[in-house]
Amino acid sequence: MGRSGSMMGTKDAATVLCSLLLLLSLSCEYSQAAESDYLQAQNTALLEVDASWKVARKIPQTLFGLFFEEINHAGAGGIWAELVSNREIYSIGFEAGGQNTPSNIDPWSIIGDESSIYVTTERASRFSKNIIALRMEVLCDHCPGGSVGIYNPGFWGMNIEEGKAYNLVMHIRSLEHVEMTASLTCYDGSQNIASTSIVHDGVQEWLKIELQLVAQGTCRTSRLELTTSKRGVIWFDQVSLMPSGTYKGHGFRKELVHMLLDLRPQFLRFPGGCFVEGNQTKNAFRWRESIGPWEERPGHYGDVWKYWTDDGLGYYEFLQLAEDLGAAPIWVFNAGISHTDAVDTSVIAPFVRDALDSIEFARGSAKSTWGSVRASMGHPERFPLKYVTVGNEDCDKINYKGNYLKFYNAIREAYPDIQIISNCDGSSRPLDHPADLYDFHVYTNPNDLFLSKDKFRRTSRSGPKVFVSEYAVNVDAGNGNLLASLAESAFLIGLEENSDVVQMASYASLFANDNDRNWNPDAIVFNSWQQYGTPSYWIQTIFRESSGAVIHPVRLSSSYSGSLAASAITWQDNEHTFLRVKIVNIGSNTLNLTIDVAGLQAGVDRKRSAITVLTSNNPSDENSFSDPNKVVPVKKDLPNAAEEMQVSLVPHSLTSFDLALDQYGKLVADM
Ligand code: AHR
Repeated sequence: MGRSGSMMGTKDAATVLCSLLLLLSLSCEYSQAAESDYLQAQNTALLEVDASWKVARKIPQTLFGLFFEEINHAGAGGIWAELVSNREIYSIGFEAGGQNTPSNIDPWSIIGDESSIYVTTERASRFSKNIIALRMEVLCDHCPGGSVGIYNPGFWGMNIEEGKAYNLVMHIRSLEHVEMTASLTCYDGSQNIASTSIVHDGVQEWLKIELQLVAQGTCRTSRLELTTSKRGVIWFDQVSLMPSGTYKGHGFRKELVHMLLDLRPQFLRFPGGCFVEGNQTKNAFRWRESIGPWEERPGHYGDVWKYWTDDGLGYYEFLQLAEDLGAAPIWVFNAGISHTDAVDTSVIAPFVRDALDSIEFARGSAKSTWGSVRASMGHPERFPLKYVTVGNEDCDKINYKGNYLKFYNAIREAYPDIQIISNCDGSSRPLDHPADLYDFHVYTNPNDLFLSKDKFRRTSRSGPKVFVSEYAVNVDAGNGNLLASLAESAFLIGLEENSDVVQMASYASLFANDNDRNWNPDAIVFNSWQQYGTPSYWIQTIFRESSGAVIHPVRLSSSYSGSLAASAITWQDNEHTFLRVKIVNIGSNTLNLTIDVAGLQAGVDRKRSAITVLTSNNPSDENSFSDPNKVVPVKKDLPNAAEEMQVSLVPHSLTSFDLALDQYGKLVADM
């Protein structure tokens, strides 16, 4: 397959001709050199595509998907729509001082001053896993400004929009009659956008308050205020504010989900990354602590990316997100290994049990021990969990191989159909342990990733398949520039070509809240109310149809082939079939490209054919909030849709031709 595949094209014909000339004692070297000089002088390239079915191959349906990590506030303050930051009210104070009091209540703060209000934390919660509550004592009868209280600014401001409803849930307690107000105000408290009063007798025992605030105005950086003008003590615990319009009511920020849906992901790998490992094992993601009622989730400090997560986006929600995206879930669990410590293989058994329980939670019957917990959360149907990864980037760490085998054997025995993914790279030499797939991560500079398009040509075709679960240009990439994305697209073309052994691939990292760009670049950048795709995001939209498509051999001839990469696929939507030819020109020359398609078993419908180009004036160009569409794919009608096409390849570009085929020929699905 690929460029080395058998295909009788122009070059082969030239070679045969040359051989004949050689027999006649005439030198062919002159004519080949002349051809090359001609190509160079003319800045030309020839791409031959053999579209006949006998040399075509099906690309795995799973090829392109997503890797979601809780990094850069991707989840907390990101796709998870919770607006209150630190809703448990113990924040990083928990990490610093355990469950000691007083603790840091950041980013909660007070309205009033020390003479009018005293706020502290106490071990007074009604929730056993979450024992800290906030105690607010109002010291004044005629308080300054009328009322005092506490406020939460959310994650760098809450996006509150006129006409929209926001659901406030909190638990309160007081020995006295309560009269207070819940309001949404602009960031400095100046503009009141929504407010409602809460009046209650008899809250000596904890009371759950649920109410809706409807915004009368818009402020992108709002805050939630809980105020009173009445002297006395109120305890607060577990305060949540959710927009009512989340995706399918599942708690996900709609615009961000739509950006993911536009990539048509085939799988969702979650929840990390290093987030799975933790810097210390005690701070690793724990699925068991992330399920059940949100008030009972203790949350945890992600000590690799250094922020608190309330685990509102927990194991169940990740499975739900995968389902909502129509993507296969890929659950990465901790292998008993963090960045700085490791559980010995002789005592790894409880971790293995924990992993088995997590699988039962996802796909056990609603009557099973853990499946029943899932059912009680509203999902009696099983989640189709078919892939698990044992750890993240742990292959060379102490105890990995021993721990891995314990996990592998137990999962293989209990769930023979589950595909088990190892952290060890088998691309250059065979693995020394059993696995269905192995993880491959690559972060590098544009030139290196461009050249890595050929990486898997030499990989053994027997044994486990490759999962390129993290790839990106992260050197000389700015905040995600055109050049980086072009190198990535060449790499993806290489993955298409080698998709007989590469089964899955996902970019990293997926999301960044602009206020916490710890890992850069990223595919999608957002703040409380805006979002845009970097060129790396847009590149992925041009590859989304490759999953499950059919790939054809291509051959490129050009003196600039060192800066070109190309592939050809046949893909189908619900109604039509297309031959898509993609060419990356990472160099700075304009090239006249001729595409010669042989073996096409259908005519081309010019009207429905199109050409899509992603480029910009400068390879370092990026998108931004102020210019989100600077580097995006632009679609045009195809100028010359015939079996041989001539087009101009602009410098630093990805060009994609979609030739609409006017009859199906052989269906892609039949392959
Ligand atoms: O994608 C960011 C990080 O890069 C991941 O957490 C880790 O797996 C890799 O080192």
